[in-house]
Amino acid sequence: MSEYGQESLWRDTASADAEQARDLAARLERRGKAKDEIEARDTYLGLLDIAPGERILDVGCGSGVVTREIARRVGNRGLAVGVDPSPALLAVAREVAKESGVGDCVEYHEGNALRLPFPDRSFDAVVCVTVLSHVPRGEAAIPELVRVLRPGGRLGVYDLDTDMTAFTHFDRALTRRIVTAASDATAVNGWLVRQLPLLFQRAGIVDVRARGFFPLETDLKSFYGGMAVRLSHNPGTPPGSAFWATRLRSSPKRSGKGCASSATSKVRASGSSIGLPTGSTDGCLHSPPSSFA
Ligand SMILES: C[S@@+](CC[C@H](N)C(=O)[O-])C[C@H]1O[C@@H](n2cnc3c(N)ncnc32)[C@H](O)[C@@H]1O
Repeated sequence: MSEYGQESLWRDTASADAEQARDLAARLERRGKAKDEIEARDTYLGLLDIAPGERILDVGCGSGVVTREIARRVGNRGLAVGVDPSPALLAVAREVAKESGVGDCVEYHEGNALRLPFPDRSFDAVVCVTVLSHVPRGEAAIPELVRVLRPGGRLGVYDLDTDMTAFTHFDRALTRRIVTAASDATAVNGWLVRQLPLLFQRAGIVDVRARGFFPLETDLKSFYGGMAVRLSHNPGTPPGSAFWATRLRSSPKRSGKGCASSATSKVRASGSSIGLPTGSTDGCLHSPPSSFA
């Protein structure tokens, strides 16, 4: 097992049972509803120019937050396909898609980003959102994502740069140590996004573009806030981490945390070659109250 990512909730989901999948799905759905996440999603999906009638693949779809938004964009003449290694998460995703009224333009399949269960050139665009940083040898998935794109198709990868998480806290030195420890623990490769433009070029992608996003969270119960608090109690975190988290909790305004974010870049199809968007960067910020004014 890699030295990194030992506390990742997302790297070994294939064996998750129904109860675990409900918990994971609830986390993803909560993140998916956050205002900054909605804005980021609108932006990176917009960069992909998804049009009605297209076939789009969402790799590592989880509970289907992104797949459902894609389904709205492709409409009844198109198809949004989600793939994930977790049968239990896929069961939740099917249920939520049905409840959301997009069940007719969505399909979910079990599969792995490193060996996609689809023929070559089967999609107009492929997206992969906060997945590859949790996958051992995640960089090897890039050529696989390209394989299933039609000529001129577009690829978008949106992921986290886990070292770029920021919190507002009185103890700077400890905060820095906690961020580093959490980065190493929660992602198999929290620096993958930094390599994406190069990986895209190596995979033969043309017109590679990158964009950064920095969503803010202001509630400790939010996705990244909850993760920080959880990790601060783990063995292996720097001494004083539990107290550090207490101070975050006891000062709600200050702990208004912003978190997260990803960057995406976009690439456009060009001629008969494959055009791709690229994703990148993520961070979590606990902004001072003034920054929320
Ligand atoms: C943080 S979740 C993101 C889910 C979804 N993309 C979203 O943004 O809501 C990471 C997802 O990657 C999936 N995953 C883990 N390993 C994978 C692999 N090797 N191939 C494809 N997906 C994988 C997990 O099951 C989980 O659903």
